[in-house]
Amino acid sequence: MRATAKAQPNIALIKYWGKRDTGRNLPAVGSISITLADLYTTMSVEFDKSLGADVLVVNGADDSPMLPRVSRCLDTVVGADRAHARIESESNFPIAAGLASSASAFAALAVAADAAAGRENTSAQLASLAGQASGSAARSLLGGFVELKNAGDDIVVSELRGRDDWPLRVVVAVTATGPKPVGSTEAMEVSRNTSPFYERWIEQQDADLDEARVAIAGKDFARLASVAEHNCLKMHSVMWGSRPPMIYWNSTTLACMQTIRELQSADIAVFFTIDAGPQVKAICNPEDEAAVQQALAATPGVEQVLVSGLGQGAAQIKDD
Ligand code: PMV
Repeated sequence: MRATAKAQPNIALIKYWGKRDTGRNLPAVGSISITLADLYTTMSVEFDKSLGADVLVVNGADDSPMLPRVSRCLDTVVGADRAHARIESESNFPIAAGLASSASAFAALAVAADAAAGRENTSAQLASLAGQASGSAARSLLGGFVELKNAGDDIVVSELRGRDDWPLRVVVAVTATGPKPVGSTEAMEVSRNTSPFYERWIEQQDADLDEARVAIAGKDFARLASVAEHNCLKMHSVMWGSRPPMIYWNSTTLACMQTIRELQSADIAVFFTIDAGPQVKAICNPEDEAAVQQALAATPGVEQVLVSGLGQGAAQIKDD
């Protein structure tokens, strides 16, 4: 059976950066994210005993560099004794450019593989399995505001607040679309091994998580904005302090941050966050979306602006 699943990327407001167990891909810190609605990846998986190897097609083209990671994820979800698979993935946004495409891809892959193999793992189990391929993918199994907790030997995701309950908007300024220079797995290890700020980052994470949880429970935009920007800039400070330094920003990234500061000075409730890539994600209330979108689109160097509401978790969409 061929099964297809759809998953949306998520944007971390309190970031995951650093691993406490690289073998099992366990994060060193908890994190909190929002799942998007309008950016998505669809993933089809079909196990076929006649295939001599797994075949991966991404956006219509063979993608052999990604294949080992995808094959490992299928082994994790279905078992290493599985038949080979044909996997097809399509995303409606730039991939491998710091837009969390690995989160939507591995969340969709776990759901599609589970269905194609006739397994019936729960969302919680699939989150844990997808998280072994990409830590952030675990969060895309759920919708709205999602917390990922480090719980003993496993990771546990939970929904803090539903997407309709606090319908924030996300405006993404795309400043470059090439693949990132260093993947997040490698970059996290360089940070852990060399950044003098890494230990303080880990120590302070629980306080940021507590603060974000309170802000989300009270729908306190200003409080969430303050802790999210702080947490994002701390993560990038860890990266900048690494050897070699990991600088994912370009000059347009900084120009977008300046645009957001100007909007804030004009009393528009908006804040930025930036992941392992040069794109700037602005979070705002629905009534300010048009102003934020216009201001970012008019920022010199911005190639494209994408907008999204908050969405639901990964789900199977069809089988045939
Ligand atoms: O899940 P990974 O390995 O793609 O790492 C995600 C890292 C960040 O996007 C920078 C932060 C996060 O929490 O999503």
